[in-house]
Amino acid sequence: MSTAPLALIAELTHRCPLRCVYCSNPLELRARSEELSTETWVRAFEEAAQLGTLHVHLTGGEPLARGDLTPLVLAARSAGLYTNLITSGIGLNEKRLSSLVEAGLDHIQLSFQDAEESSADTIAGCSAHAQKVAVAQLISETRLAFTVNLVVHRRNLDRLEEIISFAERLRPHRIEIAHVQYYGWALRNREALLPTLDQVQESVAVVERAKERLKGIKIDFVTPDYYATFPKPCMGGWARLLMVVDPSGKALPCHAAGVIPGLKFENVKEKSLRWIWEESSSFRRFRGEDWMPEPCRTCERRTQDFGGCRCQAFLVAGDAAATDPVCSLSPHRHLIDAVLKRINLSPLSADIGSSAEPGAGNVKALDTDLALRQRWAYRTNPAGVRERPEL
Ligand code: SF4
Ligand code: FES
Repeated sequence: MSTAPLALIAELTHRCPLRCVYCSNPLELRARSEELSTETWVRAFEEAAQLGTLHVHLTGGEPLARGDLTPLVLAARSAGLYTNLITSGIGLNEKRLSSLVEAGLDHIQLSFQDAEESSADTIAGCSAHAQKVAVAQLISETRLAFTVNLVVHRRNLDRLEEIISFAERLRPHRIEIAHVQYYGWALRNREALLPTLDQVQESVAVVERAKERLKGIKIDFVTPDYYATFPKPCMGGWARLLMVVDPSGKALPCHAAGVIPGLKFENVKEKSLRWIWEESSSFRRFRGEDWMPEPCRTCERRTQDFGGCRCQAFLVAGDAAATDPVCSLSPHRHLIDAVLKRINLSPLSADIGSSAEPGAGNVKALDTDLALRQRWAYRTNPAGVRERPEL
């Protein structure tokens, strides 16, 4: 076991001006009235630093929705944490950005839904793309380390080359291209988001070419694990490297752990981060190897992937203690194969959102903005938060 979480993932709020169809936030969102106070977050950052944590990732929802973001950055930096802001950029202007830079922010990750405005805004469920481009320009003029996050899926993957060129023009230091992972809202929209095998193979080739071409920009690429032979080492192993604190103060071993029944999550308002990390039952539940079933228990890959993802095991196979169903050795792999078969046999299926009729229509007919918007399951906001006007 590592002695401290390497990074604290601070979900400052679940409020967000965007409504992305692949949001990894839980379906049940924390209300503004439940959010931790500034003082409690400051104490959590100090406790994390004392524990030996090196980084804090300030995320959400949209962290800029918190009016106290600048004091929170100042507190995290003063505690000695490397401070990263993960944002849509909506709500950021020149004045606010310079106050964050002065407070000591180190790194910013700005997400984009597409290179094309109408497609990007359809996925985000609101008009945001043009503002994001303007924010990218402001960020590139600061001293901040700058990453552009690109989320890719079946609807935009055929334009990956163009999307990477768009990101390049924003002048980041790093581009992270990540296939959607199927949790939260993305799982609801999985049939419409999962790419075909041909698309995945082509995307690997496109990224390789971009890496060759863009020598000055680091490119990281996250492939869709459904197509993998072995699972991803989710979170670097359960309670091994990372700790998530949700907007209400609940500490979780990963952002999706709330879906697993029977786990008790402690709150940073009542317990210290050290106690939660070292002693709490939820962090100890799948740490190490004692919980592992066969085939993981005797598999030589268990020290590399830690048996995969506990949440995916629950969401797909109904058992959080099972081998990740993505693994080719898992007795549940057929459940993943059945989904892939549907997608690859009927790649033009536009089965979008939970209310869609399976296999209805085709992409060409339905890829009009209006039809698409009507069929996605868009992320909602916590009760009481005024939604941005829809497109
Ligand atoms: Fe990883 Fe378990 Fe599959 Fe082995 S059997 S590759 S440890 S998930
Ligand atoms: Fe929870 Fe993978 S998302 S363990």
